[in-house]
Amino acid sequence: MKHYSIAIDGPSGAGKSTLARAVAEKFGFLYVDTGAIYRTVGLSALRAGVDPKDAPAVSALLPSTRVELVHAPDGLQHMYLNGEDVTEQIRTPEVSMAASAVAAHAQVRAFLLDTQRDLAKTHNVIMDGRDIGTVVLPDADVKIFLTASTQERAWRRTLELSERGAPKPYEEVLAELEARDRDDQTRAEAPLRQAEDAVRLDNSQLTFQETVDALSEIVQERIAL
Ligand code: DC
Repeated sequence: MKHYSIAIDGPSGAGKSTLARAVAEKFGFLYVDTGAIYRTVGLSALRAGVDPKDAPAVSALLPSTRVELVHAPDGLQHMYLNGEDVTEQIRTPEVSMAASAVAAHAQVRAFLLDTQRDLAKTHNVIMDGRDIGTVVLPDADVKIFLTASTQERAWRRTLELSERGAPKPYEEVLAELEARDRDDQTRAEAPLRQAEDAVRLDNSQLTFQETVDALSEIVQERIAL
């Protein structure tokens, strides 16, 4: 049976996960947040006292690192690290930086590749990340590169952190976002870039609903649902 896949890539804070979740619900697709998988490996390194930038040390941890992704009945994706639900723990700024660092290592990316591809083989998926359209699912039925201005993304992240009860000054959020963008875009392994056949959508000036509508239109033009 043919399974459809939708790849959404783009920089941090463009709203990929919230938007992808809304589109997944609309079309009855499984939403897969691949950033959460890298975050789980980042958390694993931090807990082991390993520098996330140290490729050999992080690689040495992998054989004893069990990363599982479980979808709750409501579609919410839970992440498990060695059997422990770490869904909440992977959302701190410290883990964001660690995730970006471990994601630069070829061994880490190879370790996580099959988990991502297997989900797309067995489900209709909408998968968000940095390299979904370029590396993980190069034959995806729909590819979208979702972006927004750096200032807008930093502002949204600042609001999100404050809503979560972990406020941080805008300037600090902006600096971290710029550093993470730079790292994600300049790394040798699967850098963040727009796939040649991806549709680019800049939502700096769009509301959430306008972006959902624009994404849905792109999906419906390419997949007969
Ligand atoms: O989407 P996110 O912010 O949760 O992702 C966390 C980090 O993981 C991000 O800095 C880059 C990395 N990442 C990646 O390299 N490839 C992906 N497909 C998803 C995330």
